[in-house]
Amino acid sequence: MYKISLTSLFLIFILSCNALPVRNSIKVQSPSKNIEVAFQLLHDGTPTYIVDFNDERIIDTSRLGFDFKRIASIKNNFKIVNIEQNSFSETWEMPWGETKEVINNYNEIIVTLQNSEIEISNFVIHFRVYDDGIGFRYEFPQLNDIDSITILDENTEFNLTGNHTTWWIPGDWDIYEHLYSETKFTDIDALSKANHSNLAQTYIPENAVNTPVTMRTVDGIHLSFHEANLTNYPGMTLKIEKDNLLMKSGLVGSQRLGYKAKVELPFKTPWRTIQITKKATELIDSKLIVNLNEPNRLGDVSWFKPTKYMGIWWEMHVGKSQWSYTRNGKPHGEHGATTENAKEFIDFASANGIGSVLVEGWNTGWEHWIGFEEREGVFDFVTSYPDYDLEEVVRYGREKGVEIIMHHETSAAPRTYEQQLDTAFALMQRLGIHSVKTGYVGKIIPKGEFHHGQWMVNHFRKVIETAAKYEIAINAHEPIKATGIRRTYPNAITREGLRGQEFNAWASDGGNPPNHLPTVAFTRMLAGPIDFTPGVFNIKLEPYKKENQINTTLAHQLALYVVIYSPLQMACDLIVNYENQPAFQFISDVGVDWEKSITLNGEVGEFVTIAREEKNSGKWFLGSITNEEARSIKINFEFLNSEIEYEATIYKDGENAHWNDNPTEIEISKMKIDNGSIKEFKLAPGGGIAISLIPIKD
Ligand code: NOJ
Ligand code: CA
Repeated sequence: MYKISLTSLFLIFILSCNALPVRNSIKVQSPSKNIEVAFQLLHDGTPTYIVDFNDERIIDTSRLGFDFKRIASIKNNFKIVNIEQNSFSETWEMPWGETKEVINNYNEIIVTLQNSEIEISNFVIHFRVYDDGIGFRYEFPQLNDIDSITILDENTEFNLTGNHTTWWIPGDWDIYEHLYSETKFTDIDALSKANHSNLAQTYIPENAVNTPVTMRTVDGIHLSFHEANLTNYPGMTLKIEKDNLLMKSGLVGSQRLGYKAKVELPFKTPWRTIQITKKATELIDSKLIVNLNEPNRLGDVSWFKPTKYMGIWWEMHVGKSQWSYTRNGKPHGEHGATTENAKEFIDFASANGIGSVLVEGWNTGWEHWIGFEEREGVFDFVTSYPDYDLEEVVRYGREKGVEIIMHHETSAAPRTYEQQLDTAFALMQRLGIHSVKTGYVGKIIPKGEFHHGQWMVNHFRKVIETAAKYEIAINAHEPIKATGIRRTYPNAITREGLRGQEFNAWASDGGNPPNHLPTVAFTRMLAGPIDFTPGVFNIKLEPYKKENQINTTLAHQLALYVVIYSPLQMACDLIVNYENQPAFQFISDVGVDWEKSITLNGEVGEFVTIAREEKNSGKWFLGSITNEEARSIKINFEFLNSEIEYEATIYKDGENAHWNDNPTEIEISKMKIDNGSIKEFKLAPGGGIAISLIPIKD
């Protein structure tokens, strides 16, 4: 009998591939024709592009070019010598993700330019136009007499057509751990954000923003600017030219080497991306960034399983215990990572449906962590402190069905880390540990390098590639920004790269305000998964941190397990704060790997509601969060399977809940829901709602 294999469902169509007659301009439209890109050479041969969305100009004539060391710039005097046009459609499967199947459907033009007067005589630009945005990249072909080029600047322009409302963080070469500002484009003032007292590293050289940066036009069109497939190249900030309503690529440089990038030819840059949607919610559902990356190179990665985790972490951030073992050479007795403590977490995790336990501070070196200039050679990634028996903890975990998550804080000394990578990963492999949280706190050594420069981009990639060989997945903190690499390397599972929960434990500026995550969902989250570490139940952090608190309600914390996507999702609070808490049931139940995700409603910085269907169980989970404003949210459950009735458990803000005055008041109730149900729920100021929907079996 003939059987249709599953893989045959995932067809790739190259619909057409044409060489077009050469001229000075060429247009390409998205498959549904809502977006159009026009590439054009100006009279002086300068390459430019224009973008229209539903016949409205979104990006006006924007120049493209480069400056190099020693050789002439790419600027003007070009002619088009070849144009290729392609249409492409495929459906590919994510090994883990927000959705199982991803549709990748675009029209493309590849334009070859020539200027025989300069060294880079041939230069190619690729444009891919999707229904949810565009991507373009530069290609430097092989040349006879030049092996490599040193890039001093990339001059890609994004010429805006209005003074849009913009959600931005400063163009920091080192760190993404900033709060978002909402201003008009012309009010962007990145330099006012410099010198934050809680940042171990920050470098904001000019008025620029980091990406993704999200905007709303007066007509309500949403735009988000970012990049995809950042490989062997520096991260891109966007320089703000207020008067011209213009942004220009500002690559993160190397002060040590005196350039932005050095690459061998042939070379293709990352994609410059613009997501363009009518509604804010469509930005979250867009798969543009992963689609612009290469297919999976690792094959089967089923050794990594999306998981919830808890661990020895929050207790250090609130000051209950320490990462280090000694002070002034003597054990201080406050060390968090003890065998006994780890076993307690394993016991609790095992009893409550949490698959993994992270242990920070297990290895030697923490005595010389923050604030030390000499950080090279300090951390050791295989040697435990005397009160921590790694092998025993792993053995105990296995007995209880709980996997340990390894921790490697590099203290931003990547060379020390690289020297130990193989040994450290081999140890993990021997113990059957499949994921590691890495950290890069501090200024990069060597001096003059930055977290987002080419040198570090290559370091981060080396870690991903080496880890893959040992069947290890990476959750990086103080990471390189996410650019969809997870498609190609599905062991790049999640990362920080934003102001995480930790700031609420110690920031001197009052912590993350209630509008933080309703903004993050439409900005940072467009780049990829986030290890935010939600789930604080002891909102006021008593008795450890009287001067700090979480600025949300408890229901908002629960909703984050659905709203903020990550294949690793922490329940970060101390065990004692979860014991006998009925609301913990939601964390036990909530999925971490999804068949489907739908953003039901939302506005940037205000509120957002997302529903996700768990893979292989038919269960749905819904999360909704709001900023300082209380609001009423209407949910139409039409997304549910029409043949099934669901038992919904609803975790909502209590009648008088308020993020500051009364954050822990929560009401838990049950009701039957089906796909004809429409319900209205009230969210408190800084509040939220979390709902689990479990199919009722007759
Ligand atoms: C910074 C990380 O973001 C945090 O989660 C971790 O606890 C510390 N580094 C120590 O590695
Ligand atoms: Ca951090």
